[in-house]
Amino acid sequence: MHNLKFFSGENVPLEMHKVRMVQKINLLPIEKRLQSISEAGFNTFLLKNLDIFLDMLTDSGVNAMSEMQYAAMLQADDSYAGSETYYRLEKVLADIFGMKYFLPAHQGRACEHIFSQVMVKPGTHALTNYHFTTTKAHIARMGGIVEEIILDEAFNIQSSHPFKGDIDINKLNEAIKKHGKDKICFVRIEAGTNLIGGQPVSMKNMREVSRICRKENIKLIFDASLLTDNLYFNKIREPEFKDTDIKNITREIGSLMDMIYFSSRKLGAARGGGILTSDEDLFIKMRELVPLFEGFLTYGGMSVREMEAMAVGLQESLDMDVISQTPIFVEALCNELVERGIPVVTPPGGLGCHLDAKQFCDHLPQTDYPSGALATAIFIASGIRGMERGTISEARNDDGSEHLANMELVRLAFPKRVFTLSQVKYVVDRVTWLYKHRSLIGGLEFVEEPKVLRFFLGRLKPKGDWPQNLVKQFRKDFGDSL
Ligand code: F0G
Repeated sequence: MHNLKFFSGENVPLEMHKVRMVQKINLLPIEKRLQSISEAGFNTFLLKNLDIFLDMLTDSGVNAMSEMQYAAMLQADDSYAGSETYYRLEKVLADIFGMKYFLPAHQGRACEHIFSQVMVKPGTHALTNYHFTTTKAHIARMGGIVEEIILDEAFNIQSSHPFKGDIDINKLNEAIKKHGKDKICFVRIEAGTNLIGGQPVSMKNMREVSRICRKENIKLIFDASLLTDNLYFNKIREPEFKDTDIKNITREIGSLMDMIYFSSRKLGAARGGGILTSDEDLFIKMRELVPLFEGFLTYGGMSVREMEAMAVGLQESLDMDVISQTPIFVEALCNELVERGIPVVTPPGGLGCHLDAKQFCDHLPQTDYPSGALATAIFIASGIRGMERGTISEARNDDGSEHLANMELVRLAFPKRVFTLSQVKYVVDRVTWLYKHRSLIGGLEFVEEPKVLRFFLGRLKPKGDWPQNLVKQFRKDFGDSL
């Protein structure tokens, strides 16, 4: 029961599982951490896992799996075509979403590759609550234009709006009027809207967007990668779902959408992905691309073991004791930081705690990449790896100028059911120390800048020797401690 999350009225998240397998992690001395991030081009994506203490880069492909998931992996049916594993997974997905067809793909962006090829024509507009990096890159690759039609409130960092991921219905109607429905390749709703801080979308909003899309004959796509967090918030923030089975919610979502796709590195706590639809025409067009880019139709580039784990993980995603774990830990971390006056995105969402680097480093201009600088500083101060989600994660404009992000965030993600409360307290402790010394944090600049998705492989350098000064301050305050 999710309402057991706090005990004795205290703000303490309660783990509804026990740990039966562990992985040792290392906390290197701060000088080694500085060396490690220097070798990684001051880009946390390029760090080596061995050098990291708490890996809060992402929840993608690093969630704890249940004993039932591991058990299911043993029954995987390894055949190139017609594997029983595929049919088991197909059945689970049909039961959860009520959609007719399932196409497997090796991960979320592979789904985006497939549907963008089929649906995006050059010059058409993809309307979305908010883009995700890989989604935008695939739409742009096909000549499409991503247009965000999210509520203005989404950009209000400190807010009390329960569903900041909602589409602004006025913006949707205006965009349809402006472009004409034939120039709109699809509308996309992203569950648990990633880049604005893991903020959910209400069912009320999904219903209204679906009604408009059906009336206008525009396809509606749902990115379900972060669905479990979204479901948790539907349950606790929309009174009509308080006593509803989660499957009723997923079924209703299925009935509102023309297509659902997901990264199973997130949804289902495994690795892989897939596309669901009841639209036969779309299905047939997309189906042709699966053997070409992914693998045969009954595995789509995935290992059958992962598919078995996914099938069980998806079923476990209907259990509030399972899906509450990330949001209650995110909430606990955010609350502790807010109490200390540290700027984070509120209300706490799913996925992770999002620090506002614009306020944290208000002495740095956006062109100095405050989110990248803060992610670097956090790693040096603590061995915690977060992810830059700001201007570095954006692509440059066509004329080469910098596209300044709407928000400069550093995400401290919670892989599902991986970290303990004392580790969360360590995060609070080190981030609080860094906040006290935030004036020491300086800017970054690129030394190697890839053209596409530069945040993954780009290499940067600090402007000045601020990382060394941070180390000196740390030694002054912490002595010999790690
Ligand atoms: N859609 C959303 C909302 C995502 O968060 C992701 C991945 C994808 C699509 C792409 O899926 O990685 O399996 O290809 N998000 C990861 C993250 C990478 O760290 O947030 P993928």
